[in-house]
Amino acid sequence: MIVLGLKCHSHDTGAAIISDESGELVVHAISEARLNRRKHSFAYPLMSISYCLDCLGLSSLDQVDLVCIDKHMETWPEQGSQFGYENALNRYQPRYDDNHRWNYLAEQSIDFSGTNVHWINHVDAHAASAYYASPFNEAAVLIAEGGTGIYHGTGGALTTIDRLGYLGNTYRNGKKLKRREDRFVNSSFLYDRVSELLGYDIFGAGQTMALAGYAHQFEIEDIFNPDPERFDDFIINHDKTVFGMREMEAYGGDDGDIVQSRLCNLARQAQQTLEEDILYLAWLARKKTRAKNLCLAGGAALNCIINRKIMESGLFRDVFIQPAASDEGIPLGCALSGYYSSGGEKKWHMAHAYLGRPLTEPDVTNLAETWQLEAHPTGPEEIAQLLASGTIIGRIAGASEYGPRALGNRSILADPRPADMKERLNHGIKHREGFRPFAPSCRADRPPEFFDTPANSPFMVVAGRVSASHRGIVPCVTHADGSCRVQTVAKDINPDYYAAIDAFGELTGVPLLVNTSFNDRDEPIVETYEDAVSCFLRTGLDALWMGGQLVVKTGATPKVDGKKILDETALRVERNYTDLIERLCDGETYIALATKLYEDEKENAESG
Ligand SMILES: [Fe+2]
Repeated sequence: MIVLGLKCHSHDTGAAIISDESGELVVHAISEARLNRRKHSFAYPLMSISYCLDCLGLSSLDQVDLVCIDKHMETWPEQGSQFGYENALNRYQPRYDDNHRWNYLAEQSIDFSGTNVHWINHVDAHAASAYYASPFNEAAVLIAEGGTGIYHGTGGALTTIDRLGYLGNTYRNGKKLKRREDRFVNSSFLYDRVSELLGYDIFGAGQTMALAGYAHQFEIEDIFNPDPERFDDFIINHDKTVFGMREMEAYGGDDGDIVQSRLCNLARQAQQTLEEDILYLAWLARKKTRAKNLCLAGGAALNCIINRKIMESGLFRDVFIQPAASDEGIPLGCALSGYYSSGGEKKWHMAHAYLGRPLTEPDVTNLAETWQLEAHPTGPEEIAQLLASGTIIGRIAGASEYGPRALGNRSILADPRPADMKERLNHGIKHREGFRPFAPSCRADRPPEFFDTPANSPFMVVAGRVSASHRGIVPCVTHADGSCRVQTVAKDINPDYYAAIDAFGELTGVPLLVNTSFNDRDEPIVETYEDAVSCFLRTGLDALWMGGQLVVKTGATPKVDGKKILDETALRVERNYTDLIERLCDGETYIALATKLYEDEKENAESG
């Protein structure tokens, strides 16, 4: 059986494909943003669909047995469309690349006539992404984000206990309730509101979590009053709290000086409130299911401090956190849910997040020639030596990571020891806020003694602590409050990356590397060699480790105009979409609808 999972609406669209036809369950997944180079892309995921088909060597959607699509909102603008004709006609485009006309045309014309289509509730898709990727037979499943869900997974079946959100039916203790028409502010929305007050958008939770780590510099001050009566079973309502914050002005200063602001206390309080809420939900999940294991997903499951607290709470014996916990993981959840609910029997455990398509090597030579770069074969020892001498290296190898964290295959690597490394990375390469910490990778079988970290942390979603005596030794990866977010790397999962960390440890006595995602500030993590070279040419990166080669700039390497390169990439993407409409969509439907939209728009304009 071959199942394609899709998220087609709102942010972080993408696709995942699973097949059991080889006797094993083969799983691939990708976010559209990685391919169209538009952060948190809202585009209908044609590139991701094509990528997933290619992963399995399929030439047509007809070869897929089942397509499972995330019902992002249960209530749609019109029957049969998540986007709606009126929105398409008005070119409704609220933010980012959310172009409803284009999305509508793709949605209405994509040719699923040769396959079956199922729709899946958004919270249910998150739950499937956590439970079916976990190693557990029985587990409680907690989804925490704009929607909330508690599920019980047993023997491969997921039972809904509580669910709320996205205009879907509400469940309480397994019983369907009347649809809630009210929209209220839950814990994640409160956190988003605080991120907004700190000057960030809906994707600013990471910055807020980082700023919370600076609050110890100030006297503890409660800036808002969380409503003590906000808990109604699994429903947590922060309406009153947010209403009380309505007069509060958003931070108007620079990113650089926000750590000097007492608003760090606002971030601290938001973090503390979210911690209380999620720990309460975890307790409730344990109480309602009596399961000894927990699976976690939803955007709030990317909060590594909270994840650590859940692990330390003693509520559960073991915890699995889906690395693509936010909406990037929805396509995987859709595919897994579709597979198992259609009788699929092959078990799967997401032991690693490398679900992309492996790269091919000849591209390295071609790209080096094109850009007058020098390339020679290299290995972990040379890489370790270069890193120890201060070289910052972009690594691109194998299949890309699914989810927001780079885990060694699409990573920028550096020495964690120099006092100025954080500044070099933040300002010279990533062009991001100076207060944000970097995370380290270490060997899974021998994590440094000065780290207090979970023994197995392959996805970089759980916080650790650096002992006070070593905070000055690895300043680049120690956050202001002494925490760090470690990735443990197993030899059998990523041997070359493991070997580089090991060689660096032998050389320096510090067995860990800085690992930050391979991208510049306003672009998604690189996917292809071309993306990697583009980022290399535009930033202060010193070298690339790609396809087993070390690539460096030479005197002949041209100085590039960053904007021009990005514009050319955008044009290439547009051409690619045109080709994909031809490949995946029904041409007659597309042309008829596009013509109707054009004519109606013209008529509206003429009639004033
Ligand atoms: Fe979600």
